[in-house]
Amino acid sequence: MADDLKITATLKEDKYKELFPQIKALVEAETDAIANMANVCAALKYGMNFFWVGFYLVKQEQLVLGPFQGPLACTRIQKGKGVCGTSWLKAETIIVPDVELFPGHIACSSFSKSEIVVPVFNHTAEVVGVLDVDSDQLNMFDETDAYYLKQICSLLPF
Ligand code: SME
Repeated sequence: MADDLKITATLKEDKYKELFPQIKALVEAETDAIANMANVCAALKYGMNFFWVGFYLVKQEQLVLGPFQGPLACTRIQKGKGVCGTSWLKAETIIVPDVELFPGHIACSSFSKSEIVVPVFNHTAEVVGVLDVDSDQLNMFDETDAYYLKQICSLLPF
């Protein structure tokens, strides 16, 4: 039985430092990718207080909505479209300080103001999905988020 997360820090980097070992322990205790992505979303949503956290998974040359926490979201994204489809196409992390300034941004919620998308790789270095985190405030994400979210994605059993 899982316990609640224990996060006492207030600064972002300190929160990630507390959260990361807890997520690592959760993921190492389970082999199923969907179960792990579901718990990663809950851990990030409640540990970091993000507005929306979710995975999109590559299925038949589209991204399809996977486990997430937050308001309802778009279910399918084409390769190269929006922040998620661009992250998939380029196999790169994308930080968007203001979604209105990202050409082709897909607005699933009018409350989303900034976002970060991190590709998820399998063991042969193919992109199998992306992790998308949205904030209801501008300029919420930086290289600290990129660093820790990449580490978290690399724990997943793909
Ligand atoms: N904004 C994303 C779409 C997914 S939602 O934010 C949950 C994009 O432009 O790809």
